[in-house]
Amino acid sequence: MANRDIIRQLLEHFRRENTRNAVVLTDENVERYYSGYFSELSGCVSMDKIVVPAGECSKSIETAIEIWQYLAEKQYDRNTFLLNFGGGMVCDLGGFVASTYKRGIPFANCPTTLLAMIDAGIGGKTGVDLKLLKNAVGTFCFPDIQLPVDIELLQTLPEEEFRSGFGELVKYALIGSKELFQDLCKLESFKELKPEFLDFCIGFKQKTVKEDPFDHNLRHILNFGHTFGHAIESLFAEKGNPVAHGIAVAQGIYYESLLSYRLGHLPQDEWLQIAEFLKKHFHIVTLSTDILGKLTNFMLNDKKNRNGMINFTLLERIGHTTPDFQIPSFDMSGVCNTGVCNTPPTMSQCQ
Ligand SMILES: NC(=O)c1ccc[n+]([C@@H]2O[C@H](COP(=O)([O-])OP(=O)(O)OC[C@H]3O[C@@H](n4cnc5c(N)ncnc54)[C@H](O)[C@@H]3O)[C@@H](O)[C@H]2O)c1
Repeated sequence: MANRDIIRQLLEHFRRENTRNAVVLTDENVERYYSGYFSELSGCVSMDKIVVPAGECSKSIETAIEIWQYLAEKQYDRNTFLLNFGGGMVCDLGGFVASTYKRGIPFANCPTTLLAMIDAGIGGKTGVDLKLLKNAVGTFCFPDIQLPVDIELLQTLPEEEFRSGFGELVKYALIGSKELFQDLCKLESFKELKPEFLDFCIGFKQKTVKEDPFDHNLRHILNFGHTFGHAIESLFAEKGNPVAHGIAVAQGIYYESLLSYRLGHLPQDEWLQIAEFLKKHFHIVTLSTDILGKLTNFMLNDKKNRNGMINFTLLERIGHTTPDFQIPSFDMSGVCNTGVCNTPPTMSQCQ
């Protein structure tokens, strides 16, 4: 059963904009569970559907070309509405296709994962990966309607994907609310999430994006955990053992918190609290010199870098960050030495 507010907002938009055609872009898993989710819309517009294989491998220029070709063969015009129904992969890919097909068609995201509800579905960053380089090609393009989230969709989400969304949720707590972090610390399981936790993240991201829509400065705070996180994601993908985005981000949060502490920003007691919390909910991997070297190579390719320095958002204290901290790559091994904390388990899959 579709969420009433989502259907109502779409119908209102279609009537207002005189929309004739709507195309749902989704992936195989979401299609298996929710094939009829938007069936009510067919009373108002002609509905079509494109189903792509699930997983990050579909977030590619090759898939984008296939979708452009499909839309062109069906002669869909510039008033055709693209409805991205899925996780962050579908939202990023669909946003990219919508922003480029015929120089832009209207679209909205209807996120189906926790991660997409609190992060990927908001903010207008669209894109595809270039082989192992995450989000290397993309656009800024804002959805024509920001739909409400339907948390009922999370009931079918696999546990590992739930944990992945939790990784991004922890990021919001650390950059924006000590109170939320303390609430998260009280959870026995990451599945005990409350709707107000999601509301905080969605509100925080919307407010940040509103102030800095094109990612010039303030928005960089949202990158906390992502410099390491994207590199870890790329390294696992290279080894043929892909890891969910938010799980890689949780590792990134661990190491960027350590970096913040090592560089004298984050107080030791807060670093230890963060480390303990992350180890309770995530498997934190060890960085050998060899792995750190490989990660550094990926980090040197990060879009945020300037002048050969690696760009990080660091924590000042829980709830406060310093964006755009530059570190020369040759310094990385020194600052990542795990020192005061217990050594985390080995990254066996990558050795
Ligand atoms: N644009 C942004 O601002 C932004 C922010 C964060 C992440 N991202 C991107 O988001 C992507 C990761 O998103 P994700 O974690 O949602 O991954 P995903 O979209 O690949 O979905 C994860 C898995 O869950 C399945 N799934 C989705 N919804 C389901 C449901 N309701 N029930 C059962 N299964 C379901 C999918 O088929 C897939 O197998 C990455 O590409 C990342 O770069 C983008």
